[in-house]
Amino acid sequence: MSFYFLKMKKIIVCFLLLFGHTLLSAIFVMAKDLPGRQFTRRRDVNSQSLLENTCNNKRLDLVFIIDSSRSVSHYDFEKVKEFILTILQFLDISPDATRVGLIQYGSTVKQEFSLKTFRRKQDIERAVRRMMHLATGTMTGLAIQYAVNIAFSESEGARPLKQNVPRIIMIVTDGRPQDPVAEIAAKARNSGILIFAIGVGRVDMNTLKSIGSEPHEEHVFLVANFSQIETLTSAFQTKLCVPHVCSIVEHQCDHFCINTPGSYLCRCKQGYILNADQKTCSSMLSFLTFS
Ligand SMILES: *[C@@H]1O[C@H](CO)[C@@H](O)[C@H](O)[C@H]1NC(C)=O
Repeated sequence: MSFYFLKMKKIIVCFLLLFGHTLLSAIFVMAKDLPGRQFTRRRDVNSQSLLENTCNNKRLDLVFIIDSSRSVSHYDFEKVKEFILTILQFLDISPDATRVGLIQYGSTVKQEFSLKTFRRKQDIERAVRRMMHLATGTMTGLAIQYAVNIAFSESEGARPLKQNVPRIIMIVTDGRPQDPVAEIAAKARNSGILIFAIGVGRVDMNTLKSIGSEPHEEHVFLVANFSQIETLTSAFQTKLCVPHVCSIVEHQCDHFCINTPGSYLCRCKQGYILNADQKTCSSMLSFLTFS
């Protein structure tokens, strides 16, 4: 009886030694898969629809400027990273097509990588994931200044102006800057940089408008919270992938040149109307007076 029991025990031990590892691995894999799967699936669906419309061979010098101030929570900061990663999915990253740089700012400006740092998308993605939240002040003006003076310099990897590669800033901010932004943002825009301004939460809309390019309906966005940023992705896909004809041709628009799929339109500032030539603008005041 006791001999039989001992033998049984031996068999069980042998069984566990042989298959226990496999059993444990299986349980481990199943557990790991449960929450991860939904996430992967959702992203797959997302990336598939985005990948169908990649900005193939699209030449862009694109710099993200990310608000890393204390008021942005860790969770929110991760949302911003997700947003950047989603945008990256449809960009054609290579030194000859789209180059990407990343700057974050709090009380100081921290360049994570410049336009020339990485040649491959996977390296950029890794660097985005590794970005550490600064959790300090809100020196938005300083960050834009840094972009104009350094990030978009040829020594940092920006292509020379004569190559007509569109220069784009995408700035995400949740707060009121601690420094003046209007003047430096205007300087950036006048130097030919297109600025998309994304405000999150209780941002001062006037500040946001003083940052983004005109017309504001095309370049300035406000969302309720950081979870809502992803709703902007497809809009940005269109805006980034569209041929930036305004940067390529001598458009001769008096005020604003707007990229449209394959072409462009001229628009005028408030208080002006577009003349019959579809390029020049006349003050509405003189229009009323002389006609
Ligand atoms: C973000 O805003 C949306 C729309 O206002 C709201 O439905 C959602 O609950 C908010 N999410 C968080 C995390 O606050």
